[in-house]
Amino acid sequence: MKDKLIIFDTTLRDGEQSPGASMTTDEKVRIASALERLNVDVIEAGFPIASVGDFEAVQAVAKTIKNSTICALARTLNKDIDRAGEAIKPANRSRIHTFIATSPIHMQMKLKMQPEEVIEYAVKAIKRARKYTDDIEFSPEDAGRSDEDFLCRILEAVIKAGATTVNIPDTVGYNLPQQFGTTISHLMERIPNADKAIFSVHCHNDLGLAVANSLSAIENGARQVECTINGLGERAGNASLEEIVMAIHTRQDIFECETRIKTSEIVSCSRLVSSITGFPVQPNKAIVGANAFAHESGIHQDGVLKNRETYEIMRAEDVGWSENKMILGKHSGRSAFKDRMIKLGVEFQSVQELNEAFSQFKDLADKKHEIFDEDLQALISQAHAYADQERIVLISLRVQAETGEIPRAHVILRVDNREVYSQASGCGMVDASLKAIEIIVKTEATLALYSVNSISSGMDAQGEVTIRLEKGGRIVNGLGADVDIVIASAKAYIHAANRLDTPIKKSYSQGIV
Ligand code: KIV
Ligand code: ZN
Repeated sequence: MKDKLIIFDTTLRDGEQSPGASMTTDEKVRIASALERLNVDVIEAGFPIASVGDFEAVQAVAKTIKNSTICALARTLNKDIDRAGEAIKPANRSRIHTFIATSPIHMQMKLKMQPEEVIEYAVKAIKRARKYTDDIEFSPEDAGRSDEDFLCRILEAVIKAGATTVNIPDTVGYNLPQQFGTTISHLMERIPNADKAIFSVHCHNDLGLAVANSLSAIENGARQVECTINGLGERAGNASLEEIVMAIHTRQDIFECETRIKTSEIVSCSRLVSSITGFPVQPNKAIVGANAFAHESGIHQDGVLKNRETYEIMRAEDVGWSENKMILGKHSGRSAFKDRMIKLGVEFQSVQELNEAFSQFKDLADKKHEIFDEDLQALISQAHAYADQERIVLISLRVQAETGEIPRAHVILRVDNREVYSQASGCGMVDASLKAIEIIVKTEATLALYSVNSISSGMDAQGEVTIRLEKGGRIVNGLGADVDIVIASAKAYIHAANRLDTPIKKSYSQGIV
């Protein structure tokens, strides 16, 4: 029988460290539920000492998720360990993940600690964490640039103190596949009590090698891999869950281990993370990109028609790409709608919530006669976005545009329960609309990103707009979907403005309606 490879997902922790990817508690719970449906073994839900919001989010995930282990991150400080221990208390299965840096540059410049002190902190943290759970993970941060002899000493000490998983992070994405794999096998051979812990890896993608390094480590004995959906994470991101899982799955001739991941849930989980964080998935991204299974050249198309395996190493259905079939339409009833939503993992908390979602669905079905799963997911993402942040709401938008004329937008927003009108002109319809909104909401932020993607296919497909605003070092993403991309853009701008939560002064508005 093959070994089990533990899939440790850190989308909610390292993934959230991508600039602009911060998530609300409700959004984290929705992603955690999707990860549970995917059968992820461990969900790293956050860093509870970082803020009250982080603590509450980890606690909410711990209360909701039943089948995956819920993990909280902590430095080796007492206050961190206690806060992590409190946050994971409601979980069926819980883990504390504690870390301290071990590379010479981090110990000297950042921690200003001697190596012996670092070992002492690590051991004390493990012992304290054991008051809360028996499942304890230790990471020597920047292990990828640490001295191998020192790694052997600290890892032996933490395993002796009770660490059940030792994770080797390539924190700055410096390692190369063959060398990283060799490091893992050396550590496993040289540490006398290595057999008492599971070896894990956590690779960053600064050189585009996170997945390759992780796979090399797995070939050399690592039995846990840390990864994120869509490869989200600090800087260039972490190793992507979908790529690792499908490599293991597809190359069973090479790997001596297997995962428990339900691969058919991969695409919907990827879409959910993309729509919540506002990080679009590039079309040529492996496994989950829109072109991942598309064949353009005639020779390829001909080959695939004759025998799919001529040009495909995986089946699109196995990762959850469904036929773009019509799911619901204008005449579908409430129970068909509810059924489909449950299949997509959406549970309504009350009849009122179902009714509101159903009425939004009917509005959409009036504009667009074929409703796909992707449309339903966007609808839910938006409903959640607006339910969370209702301070600024779009009431109406009217845009005038004509060849040779300057476009002008007229907007009415509800701000703190008062309706406010504004108008502006711009170089295009989107520009005019965003300017009119900005006159009211006064974010004074820089527009760092504007992107529009089509949800599903067809001439009447909805456009999903992502807007990133940056102000004083803070970055937020806003999301909006509509069959009209000018309206989608306005919704995305308002969503981002709500997230920035700037004080809106009365004098900024052009007129109270
Ligand atoms: O990249 C890193 O070193 C980390 C640790 C906290 C595991 O994220
Ligand atoms: Zn990391």
